[in-house]
Amino acid sequence: MKERIEQTGTQIPYRSDNFDFCLIFEKSKKNTFKKCTDLPDGLVRASLDIPELSEPEVIRHYTALSKLNFGIDTGMYPLGSCTMKYNPRFTEYLSALPHNMVHPYQDETTIQGSLKIIYMLKRHLMNICGMDDFSLQPAAGAQGEFTAMAIIKKYFERKNDNRNEVIVPDSAHGTNPKSAAMSGFDVVEIPSDEQGTIDHNIVKEAVSEKTAALMLTNPNTLGLFEKEIPEIARIVHDAGGLLFYDGANLNGIVGKVRPGDMGFDCMSLNLHKTFAVPHGGGGPGSGPTGVKKHLADLLPVPAVEFNGEKYYLDYNRPDSIGKVHGFYGNYLAIVRALGYILRLGSIGLTRISEFSVLNSNYMVSKLSDVYEVKNPETLHKHEAVFSAAGQKKYDVNALDIAKRLMDYGVHPPTIYFPLIVKEALMIEPTETESKGSIDNYCEILLRLNEEIQKDAEMVKSAPHSTVVGRLDDVFAARKMILRWNPDIVTTSDHENKQQDGN
Ligand SMILES: Cc1ncc(COP(=O)(O)O)c(C=O)c1O
Repeated sequence: MKERIEQTGTQIPYRSDNFDFCLIFEKSKKNTFKKCTDLPDGLVRASLDIPELSEPEVIRHYTALSKLNFGIDTGMYPLGSCTMKYNPRFTEYLSALPHNMVHPYQDETTIQGSLKIIYMLKRHLMNICGMDDFSLQPAAGAQGEFTAMAIIKKYFERKNDNRNEVIVPDSAHGTNPKSAAMSGFDVVEIPSDEQGTIDHNIVKEAVSEKTAALMLTNPNTLGLFEKEIPEIARIVHDAGGLLFYDGANLNGIVGKVRPGDMGFDCMSLNLHKTFAVPHGGGGPGSGPTGVKKHLADLLPVPAVEFNGEKYYLDYNRPDSIGKVHGFYGNYLAIVRALGYILRLGSIGLTRISEFSVLNSNYMVSKLSDVYEVKNPETLHKHEAVFSAAGQKKYDVNALDIAKRLMDYGVHPPTIYFPLIVKEALMIEPTETESKGSIDNYCEILLRLNEEIQKDAEMVKSAPHSTVVGRLDDVFAARKMILRWNPDIVTTSDHENKQQDGN
């Protein structure tokens, strides 16, 4: 690997240079346990199919693995659409407090503090979003959307209205059409216009007596504020449909405008994006669903309520869609988000959107001459989607750029999403990055553009400083090896073979 770095002139290998590629099973030394025990022979297992290593060997193995990992604590992680921002340590401290160690089956009277935390967060989210109620049960943004779709479905069933269509713009996050389809709706896709936003005339053409809802992400996945929301809301409501707001990008508008005031009937949020809950690895996240009054009795049970004296779990909601998560949701995500909101206060929350917008527009101003961006002169919100289409003439694509960025010790952006931008590089610097780290990221991208012109092959063969290079995703997807088996070729063997041209 050292050679590969020298050949390419990369200066910043932060990865371990001497990782030995072995799985812990492959490092195992047979009969270590047997030799180490004083137990009489009859009590020692003849065989136990787990790796046999000493404690220091195990610690070193996992420490070496952890050094290969990349996280927001390691460097800038501008994965567009994901808001991989820094989560302050005090929220981690709060979630680790022993007071959180309650059992979900404890009697209500003994968990008043925990119920108060859930209730307080619900009230804050209602206030921040202009909604009349919230359920904190959903465990992810997608589940929050799905919960809202289930609510909409039941709302119309209750009215004996068999509306079965949900309108979704082509710029929406993939989870939107999926949530609608999983709830039994037919998805009607509408195209965004030249500017990347939704023209209300397109909505007018798409609505009918079959329209149950329109799902709108705002700011949208191009980081643009949908300017025609009042007209869109009127058109959908006049047709008898409901409006759903995907609030995953709330960090672009928090403290400035509220979905409830814009006419939305229901919404989802991602606490693991806007409200400093760690994000990634599939969770644990939190995707609260908010609703206006006319949908409130359909929210999942139990609702956490306060009767002036005590907090209690309200199961008495006959029209509820039921449960969408065990107990009350991912409780420690709720603790973190409440701590974050209380610490920042309304001024601090408003600063989130101001800094996220400032940072993404700063990137647009530094990069748009080299990496094309739709409407560079329009104010973007929290993120912007650049295109590497201009670099294609050197036969370099967005994937190559993403791989080469890893050699510089930064995380690549989201690529090839949204689908409406060719060779998309979707960059969300987030509100927690400093000017210095954004400058550094932009300098890397500009330098990379020069590299592409001088030595496209080197960029196309990146990364050069990571332990494994380009994995064969098709091989990995088609032939998933999820359990170690001594007879099956390991990933590293496979990669070595690929490099040898086999
Ligand atoms: C706009 C948008 N909607 C929905 C989601 C889905 O959220 P989750 O990954 O928590 O399911 C995301 C994810 O980042 C998103 O960016």
